[in-house]
Amino acid sequence: MTAPFIVVTRRPPGRAVEILAEAGQVWVWPEDRAIDRDLLLDRARDADALYTMLTERVDEELLDAAPGLRVVSNMAVGVDNIDREACARRGIRVGHTPDVLTDTTADMAWALLLAVSRRIVEGVDHVRSGRWRRWEPKLLWGVDASRTTLGIVGLGRIGAAVARRGSAFGMEVVYTSRRPKPALEEALGLRRVDLGRLLETSDHVVLTAALTPETHHLIDRAALEAMRPTATLVNVGRGPLVDTDALVTALSERWIFGAGLDVTDPEPLPADHPLVALSNCVIVPHLGSSTRRTREAMAELAARNVVAALAGEPMPAEVPTTGGS
Ligand code: DGY
Repeated sequence: MTAPFIVVTRRPPGRAVEILAEAGQVWVWPEDRAIDRDLLLDRARDADALYTMLTERVDEELLDAAPGLRVVSNMAVGVDNIDREACARRGIRVGHTPDVLTDTTADMAWALLLAVSRRIVEGVDHVRSGRWRRWEPKLLWGVDASRTTLGIVGLGRIGAAVARRGSAFGMEVVYTSRRPKPALEEALGLRRVDLGRLLETSDHVVLTAALTPETHHLIDRAALEAMRPTATLVNVGRGPLVDTDALVTALSERWIFGAGLDVTDPEPLPADHPLVALSNCVIVPHLGSSTRRTREAMAELAARNVVAALAGEPMPAEVPTTGGS
């Protein structure tokens, strides 16, 4: 019997490749950029397992090219790059990397919330450009985080971790979610509201929802108009949760105080994009889970998902066939 063939679309950190090698013959795209689509289609032809990053589109075309495929393991918690229904129809299992990145990503949401509300990047620019001449009572006034209202859109694992941080800041925390979360409501004193109410009443809105057809452009022009002029918007979910053109208008015309974005649409965002020039917008290049410890843990969990699936065993983190990630 020949060993299973495992295609890895980018060299993962940590011990991932060693772990994969226990289960079969591993082929790794050697370059430090997303794999060329044609090469991926070609390699997939013999693949039993695909180990992907969020940059790869796993769609009907790719699955058709991979008749022997048994598992797709994404080195991310979000799986919006994978056509899960098409995988399910073919009996292909899908793995992802929940839990290991929850706190790291929630920390990033918090870093962005504070950076925007307290104008950290503008302050650094002020110093670097030599404009800091004296203490001034009204210099770069921000808005408070402590003892305000935090609105979390999508109360999954990361949303709950953001909520915990909010409670520690003395915030009242409201949330939207497809299903009520009574245990978290009880433990953290959260309140479930509808999106309209959340936008109207929150001082800080944090998006952690999964990207699905229903959440695409959830934050559109009307949503931004509904927010308070002193409110901040933070997105650590996926870029297309927000209508980017509407956000440019909202920030330029000061409908809201500012935005902090770990994810954008398009992604990567070109340096000459209008959002980049806005002083009330802090953008980082999808770094939510980017610490050594967390990225290594994600890479190793994704590898263990492959090993288990190829052995026909329960995967440590299998994406359910239906429902959000
Ligand atoms: C994820 O895991 O979905 C994150 O966006 C990757 O950083």
